[in-house]
Amino acid sequence: MTTTTDPRPLDDAFFADPDALYRVLRTEAPVSRVVTTMGLTVWLVTRYADARPALNDARLAKSGSGFATVLEKQGIENRARFADSLVGHMLNTDPPDHTRLRKLVSRAFTVRAIAAMRPRITALAEELADAMTGDEADLLDAFAFPLPMTVISELLGVPPEHREDFRGWSNTLLSAGEPETRTAAAGAMAQFLSQLVADKAAHPGDDMLSAIVRAAEDGDSLSHTEVISMAFLLLVAGHETTVNLIANGMRALLQHPDQAALLRADPALVPNAVEEFLRYDGPVNLATLRFSTQDVEIGGTTVPAGEVVLVSLIGANRDPERYERPTELDVTRDARGHLAFGYGIHHCLGAPLARLEGEIAFRTLLSRFPAMTLAADPRSLTWRESTLIHGVTSMPV
Ligand code: HEM
Repeated sequence: MTTTTDPRPLDDAFFADPDALYRVLRTEAPVSRVVTTMGLTVWLVTRYADARPALNDARLAKSGSGFATVLEKQGIENRARFADSLVGHMLNTDPPDHTRLRKLVSRAFTVRAIAAMRPRITALAEELADAMTGDEADLLDAFAFPLPMTVISELLGVPPEHREDFRGWSNTLLSAGEPETRTAAAGAMAQFLSQLVADKAAHPGDDMLSAIVRAAEDGDSLSHTEVISMAFLLLVAGHETTVNLIANGMRALLQHPDQAALLRADPALVPNAVEEFLRYDGPVNLATLRFSTQDVEIGGTTVPAGEVVLVSLIGANRDPERYERPTELDVTRDARGHLAFGYGIHHCLGAPLARLEGEIAFRTLLSRFPAMTLAADPRSLTWRESTLIHGVTSMPV
């Protein structure tokens, strides 16, 4: 079956409550066309049973001339150009390049390697909590952003003075906005990372970026621009998402005091709760762009070759066919199998780090701030206008 109805536009309400649309689509048109805010027509996959195999389907590729071809076909001028040095990373490539790039850093992100970071992450979380002394704070500024940003920056060896700049560029790049603003942010980011990589080459340290630079110098395993792209991906993926695991999860708890009470009574439940936060209101709404290299049948619908496919992780994680009472927060449920970290060869490399940061963040916030409440009506919060990142711009508590 090929859908012939007009594609639906994604509107502003979509960013605050994407599942409102997914609820309708999962039953009426589980694989159907929508138009994104940048005017791109894409195929949206909303059911768990279709989403999981689609994420791991080699015919839905990442690289090549896919994006340029689609834009041209749809008559969209690609005005917001990413600097070339930022795009050659593993999340934009297929095997064998993907395999080569991922292998270079995968050992640093195993559960075991990451476990060694527990004392440092705990100390950081305590320090941030110590600094939250007033009656009111923005949980994003005071805790949810600085924790993962500091952790990934220390791991890679990014000096502290540039972290706020980086946050601004990264936010701009991942949100819908003026193409000129996004191009400028990409340029600033590329220049910053290029300088950073040059510094690491001149003065290597005991950090991951120095190790990657050394690997590039030692052989032909990766090029100079691939080093910059890798740094870009690790820094952006390493904080944008975890920030919203912490913020979305805390907001869910503050709106469900019974669930917070369960966790305070039994902190050993926290790792299980982290999986539930990821399932219930995960930081990634739609997975990154995939391009059909041939006609592909998904859930009974044929997606023609040369189209963009977006897999809805939030839609899959709230599919009643997969999870009972999907719109209920239940920190005791078995949420495993959720797709918040994606699936298949691009499954999140940083998942062990994100899980550890999440566990420590929730333990710390729950124990240090037993009387925390939301200081704003949840309906008044402003949502990021991003199809990728699902989260608010500030969260007064
Ligand atoms: C890939 C989610 C934290 C690094 C992904 C993907 C998702 C995801 C959904 C796959 C996207 C796709 O297939 O289109 C998350 C969430 C996080 C998180 C929800 C936090 C709660 C992190 C952290 C890092 C990281 C802390 C650390 C550096 C990466 C990398 C990839 C990736 C490198 C690309 C993997 C590949 O292409 O093989 N992440 N992520 N992520 N993530 Fe994460």
